Amino acid sequence: MKESIIIFDTTLRDGEQSPGASMNGSEKLRLALQLEKLGVDVLEAGFPAASDGDFDAVAKIAAAIQAAEVAGLCRTAKSDIDRAWGAVRHAAKPRIHTFIATSDIHLQYKLRMSRDEVVEKAVEAVKYAVSLTPNVEFSAEDGSRSDRDYLCRIFEAVIAAGATTVNLPDTVGYAIPEEFAELIRYVKAHTPNIDRAVLSVHCHNDLGLATANTLAAVAAGARQVEVTMNGIGERAGNTSLEEVVMALHTRPNFYQFTSNVRTEFIHPTSRLVSMITGLPVQPNKAIVGANAFAHESGIHQDGVLKNPMTYEIMKPETVGLNTNKMVLGKHSGRHALRAHLKDMGYDLSDEELATLFVKFKELADKKKHVVDEDLEVLVAEGLQTKDVFALDYLHVTAGTTVLPMASVRILVNDRPVQGAGYGNGPIDATFNTISRLCNTHSELMRFSISAITGGTDAQGEVTVRLKENGLEAMGRGADPDIITAGAKAYINGLNRLEYLKTHPVEPVMD
Ligand code: KIV
Ligand code: ZN
Repeated sequence: MKESIIIFDTTLRDGEQSPGASMNGSEKLRLALQLEKLGVDVLEAGFPAASDGDFDAVAKIAAAIQAAEVAGLCRTAKSDIDRAWGAVRHAAKPRIHTFIATSDIHLQYKLRMSRDEVVEKAVEAVKYAVSLTPNVEFSAEDGSRSDRDYLCRIFEAVIAAGATTVNLPDTVGYAIPEEFAELIRYVKAHTPNIDRAVLSVHCHNDLGLATANTLAAVAAGARQVEVTMNGIGERAGNTSLEEVVMALHTRPNFYQFTSNVRTEFIHPTSRLVSMITGLPVQPNKAIVGANAFAHESGIHQDGVLKNPMTYEIMKPETVGLNTNKMVLGKHSGRHALRAHLKDMGYDLSDEELATLFVKFKELADKKKHVVDEDLEVLVAEGLQTKDVFALDYLHVTAGTTVLPMASVRILVNDRPVQGAGYGNGPIDATFNTISRLCNTHSELMRFSISAITGGTDAQGEVTVRLKENGLEAMGRGADPDIITAGAKAYINGLNRLEYLKTHPVEPVMD
């Protein structure tokens, strides 16, 4: 029997720290259920002290999740720990995850504390957390740039205080695989009571080395990896769950480890994360990118046709691609839709299914075949909360000889407002008009468009990034009509900005 590496998923916490990637409570809950289905062992649901919205979302997730442990992140302050515990306490398997920085640069400039004071604070926090639950993780923030003997000292102290997991983060993505592996070996060799805790790693991808560092750490003795789906996260992101899991899976002779992840749910989960956060997956992204299994060169295509193993090290079905070729159409009924969604990994309530069925029929009227990717869009759209702005009507004229014009009606808190405007193209005309009707002062930072599937009847998928007074939000929309997709994306971004305005996140200072 191979030893299983603990997969600690932080898509909902560190992943949400990706610029613009905020999620509302129902989106987080849906994603948590999907991550549980994927088979992650620990689900870091959020940072409850950061905002009331985060607290509520973590509490709801804790109540719903059965198989995975649910962790709440907190600093070392008692009030933070209380907040984290308050949110996770009703979980079947709660975990408190407390952290403090340990590198001299953080101690000197950020915390303004001595090494002794930090050890004392960490021990005090862990002891308090242990008085609430035996399942306590301690993270040494900026661990990879900390003095190694000091790391061992603080780990020894928090383990003695009751921490059951000690995490060594490469917070700024500075580590190099050989060096990081050496650090893990050092910590294992020089922390006398390390066998009483699980040694974990948490890497960021600033040098594109997060997966390599994580795998090197596993080979050197780490037994928990902190990862996010699609590698989303602060700045350049975190270690990508799918890359680590598939490396263990694809190279069983090299790594004598396994994981509890059900790899066939990787692709649907990746799509859900992308749609909920509005963060597109780059086409050449390992495992989950649109090109990850596409063979362009003739030599490769010829080889794959003769034997897929010539150029494919993983089967697409293993990560949940092409497993179900069934397409639905306008004659498909509610039961077929429910069964198909279930196969895709989505268990919807009767109420959710009823709403989705109406949208499915509308789409099937416009598009002959409704495929999995279309359904994923509908599922994600169904999670959007009751919004301030909704698109009610859009009419656009454009062409080679006319001035592009858009007539738009928006419901602002259910009250219709309408108007018309022009622009230098149909999207510009539409966005100018929506911007005026919604009275927004936001700036459009990015606009991108792609097709969800092949074929000219494919839905266009638009993502936008908006900025207003330091707040950033992504918006996405899909529709067979690309101008409508653009309008939906813009309005979705505006709604997310409204959500951020009404759910402020406290700046986290230490
Ligand atoms: O990157 C980091 O150090 C973190 C810790 C809070 C674990 O996210
Ligand atoms: Zn992090």
